Amino acid sequence: NKVVLAYSGGLDTSVIVPWLRENYGCEVVCFTADVGQGIQELEGLEAKAKASGACQLVVKDLKEEFVKDYVFPCLRAGAVYERKYLLGTSMARPVIAKAMVDVAKEVGADAVAHGCTGKGNDQACLTIRFLTLNHVRFELTFFALNPNLNIVAPWREWDITGREDAIEYAKKHNVPVPVTKNSIYSRDRNLWHLSHEGDILEDPANEPKKDMYMMSVDPEDAPDQAEYVEIGIESGLPVSINGKKLSPASLLAELNEIGGRHGIGRIDMVENRLVGMKSRGVYETPGGTILFAAARELEFLTLDREAIQVKDSLALKYAELVYAGRWFDPLRESMDAFMQKITDTTTGSVTLKLYKGSVTVTSRASPFSLYRQDISSFESGQIYDQADAAGFIRLYGLPMRVRAMLEQGI
Ligand code: ARG
Ligand code: SIN
Repeated sequence: NKVVLAYSGGLDTSVIVPWLRENYGCEVVCFTADVGQGIQELEGLEAKAKASGACQLVVKDLKEEFVKDYVFPCLRAGAVYERKYLLGTSMARPVIAKAMVDVAKEVGADAVAHGCTGKGNDQACLTIRFLTLNHVRFELTFFALNPNLNIVAPWREWDITGREDAIEYAKKHNVPVPVTKNSIYSRDRNLWHLSHEGDILEDPANEPKKDMYMMSVDPEDAPDQAEYVEIGIESGLPVSINGKKLSPASLLAELNEIGGRHGIGRIDMVENRLVGMKSRGVYETPGGTILFAAARELEFLTLDREAIQVKDSLALKYAELVYAGRWFDPLRESMDAFMQKITDTTTGSVTLKLYKGSVTVTSRASPFSLYRQDISSFESGQIYDQADAAGFIRLYGLPMRVRAMLEQGI
């Protein structure tokens, strides 16, 4: 029998390979997904996996799929978890887990195992506290896509208790110990975002250190000159930057550059994890923050009051489902169908001004705009007849008048 292991090349996953062979007597196929986390030594990775005892390494570039099928639907939905979090880690788990299910089928494996997919995360991965939520996200996806797959979660089974212990185990099994720098922060990166947790951030009173950030410059150091950027949107999905059509992943990558140099999209928050505890995290989502501002703004032209209200209320639930790992839940999929339909006419362009960490909308236009200058203008008045107003106000205000009459005994 064979098992597909989500493999990063870090200490944690390097140790899982011999552990799986020893405890399950199975062949181990390592799987590495590229979701834009910046895999530096892809070539070295295969040798590394084999040195740990894997029979094979499969690498898949999931960047376009990730952005097109996971990131953009969340953007279209306006999904924000707990007022701030743009769900970067949450969205990446189902795309990776889905690819693992596919790879298991391709190589004839009957089981999957997941380590920690983040980078520089050894510490976090070897202490159970940080793992719960991502395990849920992986495993719910496995259940939804192939209920017959066996899931091995070494953390729940083994007695390796920390980094030193893991290094010991690796040495005993002749597995080269990866010389990755052990970052003090627990981080997770992909094309959409970079998250930081742990160390001094664990006290919510501590301001993050300036040198912690990696995707964005400090707004104080950003250029004194503002930059304008125009986002083209079709049916709620971004398609171009400054008139240039780009694929989803390249559009996001370029916007990360632009936003990053102006210090856009830093989020510092205390969030409620699925398992109940609160946790403090700092996120960098430069491109995503610009896209959210643009997509939201365009809806003010294309959606009416009730549509915005209903959409926003569903977005709350949508975000919660994504955060909780229920991507392949029919409920999220049905809500997505709603989001797609309601943003059908959300097409047009939005221009934003980026300046020292702030994003300001300066211009918006849509061929499907519900805004009509001839109606809304202070100048004219053909369709909107002021004579209609008096009757409208009397009827609209009737409940208030009735209440006042009651109170005053009239
Ligand atoms: N708290 C966020 C989430 O659960 C981000 C977690 C990212 N992982 C990390 N080790 N920083 O989606
Ligand atoms: C992580 O491991 O990246 C943190 C999220 C979690 O699993 O709780």
